[in-house]
Amino acid sequence: MKSVLFSRFFILLPWILIVIIMLDVDTRRPAPPLTPRPYFSPYPGGRRGGAGRGREQRNESRPPPPLPPEPPLPTIYAITPTYSRPVQKAELTRLANTFRQVAQLHWILVEDAAARSELVSRFLARAGLPSTHLHVPTPRRYKRPGLPRATEQRNAGLAWLRQRHGHQRAQPGVLFFADDDNTYSLELFQEMRTTRKVSVWPVGLVGGRRYERPLVENGKVVGWYTGWRADRTFAVDMAGFAVSLQVILSNPKAVFKRRGSQPGMQESDFLKQITTVEELEPKASNCTKVLVWHTRTEKVNLANEPKYHLDTVTIEV
Ligand code: UGA
Ligand code: MN
Repeated sequence: MKSVLFSRFFILLPWILIVIIMLDVDTRRPAPPLTPRPYFSPYPGGRRGGAGRGREQRNESRPPPPLPPEPPLPTIYAITPTYSRPVQKAELTRLANTFRQVAQLHWILVEDAAARSELVSRFLARAGLPSTHLHVPTPRRYKRPGLPRATEQRNAGLAWLRQRHGHQRAQPGVLFFADDDNTYSLELFQEMRTTRKVSVWPVGLVGGRRYERPLVENGKVVGWYTGWRADRTFAVDMAGFAVSLQVILSNPKAVFKRRGSQPGMQESDFLKQITTVEELEPKASNCTKVLVWHTRTEKVNLANEPKYHLDTVTIEV
C-alpha cells in the first residue's frame, strides 16, 4: 500500500511542478497597456512622477500604498477652419497624424462651406479622433484678398463650445486655434494644457521673420518681438496662444469681428475682449522655444490636369 502511494506521488510530482512554473511565468508577464494608442504625457516623467513605478512593484508581496487621486486631464479643444482646395485632404492628414498622438484632444473642424462635404465627413470618420464636424460659409462679400479669413468658422467653434458647456460647471479645458496648414510640435500640447486663463508662446516663420515671440521679464509678458505692426496690443499670430474654457464661458460675447478688423488684427482684437497683457501666461521656457510654425503650403501646379475626366476610375485626392 505504502509503495503504491509513493509511486503515485512520484508520477504526479513533475506535473505539479510544471503547473506551478507555468502559473508563475504567467503572472510575471507585463499587463497590456491600458491606452492602446500612444499619447504625449502632459506631465514630464509621467503622471505619477516616476518611470514604470507600478510595473516594477508587481511581484512584491505587499501592495503599494494607494496614490492620491489625480486631477482630471484638461481637454484640449482644437478649432480648425478649413476650406475645399486641392491640398485640403493632405493638410488634414498631417494635422490628424499630430493630434492623434495627444491625449484628451477634441478636434472641432469647421468647414467654410454651405454644407458638410463628403470628403471631410469620410476623413473624420476614419481619423480615429474625438471630433465635431461643423460648417458655415464665409459670405461672398468677405471672400476677397486682403480681408481676414475664417472669422465665421472660428466663431462657430466658439459657439459650439459655449452651447455644449453652458449648462454645467466648466470641466477643465483649453482651447486653441489650429489653422489647417501650420505645423505643431507635440511639446506644444504639453505646454498649453496647463493654461489657467490665457497663455502665449513664440511662433516660427511668421510676420516676415524667422519667428515672433512675446518678450518676458520676471515671468511676465512686457512686449513683443515682431517685424509687423509692433503697435498691436497683442502682437501674436493665431497659432501663438491658448485660452481656458472657463475664460471662454465667462466672456460669452467675445468673438472674432469683421467690422473694424484688418487682416492680422483679429488675434489682438479678440484677446482684448478677454484678457490683458499683464495677465498673460508665458509658455515654452519663458517664450524662448518655437513649438509651432506658421508653414504655408505652395499652391499646387495643376497645369496638366485634363479638362474632362479621362481616367477609368474616380479617385478622391
Ligand atoms: C494668417 C493667420 O495665421 C491666420 O490665422 C489668419 O486667419 C489669416 O492670416 C487671415 O488673413 O485671416 P494665413 O496663412 O495667411 O494665416 O491664412 P490661411 O492659412 O490661408 O487661412 C487660415 C485658416 O482659415 C486656415 O485654416 C484655412 O483653411 C482657413 N480658411 C482660409 C478658410 O476657412 N476659408 C478661406 O477662404 C481661407
Ligand atoms: Mn496659414
